[in-house]
Amino acid sequence: MLELINVAKSYQSPANADGVCVLKDITLKVEKGQSLVIVGPSGSGKSTLLNIIGALDRPTAGRVLFDGKDLAELNESELARIRNRQIGFVFQLHHLLPQCTVLENVLVPTLAGKNRLPKKEIHQRAVNLLQRVGLKDHLLYRPGQLSGGQRQRVAVVRALINKPRLLLADEPTGSLDKEASENIAELLVELNRSEQVTLIAVTHSLKLAEQIGHVMELSDGLLRDRSRG
Ligand SMILES: Nc1ncnc2c1ncn2[C@@H]1O[C@H](COP(=O)(O)OP(=O)(O)OP(=O)(O)O)[C@@H](O)[C@H]1O
Ligand SMILES: [Mg+2]
Repeated sequence: MLELINVAKSYQSPANADGVCVLKDITLKVEKGQSLVIVGPSGSGKSTLLNIIGALDRPTAGRVLFDGKDLAELNESELARIRNRQIGFVFQLHHLLPQCTVLENVLVPTLAGKNRLPKKEIHQRAVNLLQRVGLKDHLLYRPGQLSGGQRQRVAVVRALINKPRLLLADEPTGSLDKEASENIAELLVELNRSEQVTLIAVTHSLKLAEQIGHVMELSDGLLRDRSRG
């Protein structure tokens, strides 16, 4: 469902007139339903790669194919549609709206564009998903009243509300302790199976990565296999 072919990314740099090359040559094929985890040190380009996969940023060279369609050939509204309908994001910082309740936060992605499902069904799906992640008693809480792990679970539910086919999770356990991190990892594995959503997650924890899926390591701008399998 997703293919990267010789993807490279350079950024302009205040220190170097030629710019800095973060991704050198990334070729990757992800099949439907797969669970892939990218590990790598801070600054190795993990978020950059995820943003390119999620059509939030464009590569400097190479091609990104989503369902065989080259993202470079799509216009802004077609890209926005893919981002909103086909892809769910869990960002490195959860980006919940502080003034909105848990339930309202989860429903935010359903506000853009025409919905495929009636309002009542969307609401029911939000409540069901929140229940599944153990937050059924927190629907009317605001993010500031939740623990870090609970906030991250809200962010995961929000990413799934539009039934995306691809879930991108950038350090979904970033600031959490060991137990909360393992809970989020288990949740991602469970949702990858039950929602049949393809998962690409990023983490700097190799141990966590191995719990979630097939592990690849990003370093020196290249992606290498780390899993035994
Ligand atoms: N918009 C930008 N402009 C210039 N350089 C950037 C930009 N975004 C990222 N970089 C550079 O690209 C490199 C990779 O950044 P990126 O955020 O992808 O790393 P990361 O692997 O996600 O790191 P972390 O684990 O700390 O989140 C860094 O050296 C950073 O300085
Ligand atoms: Mg990052």
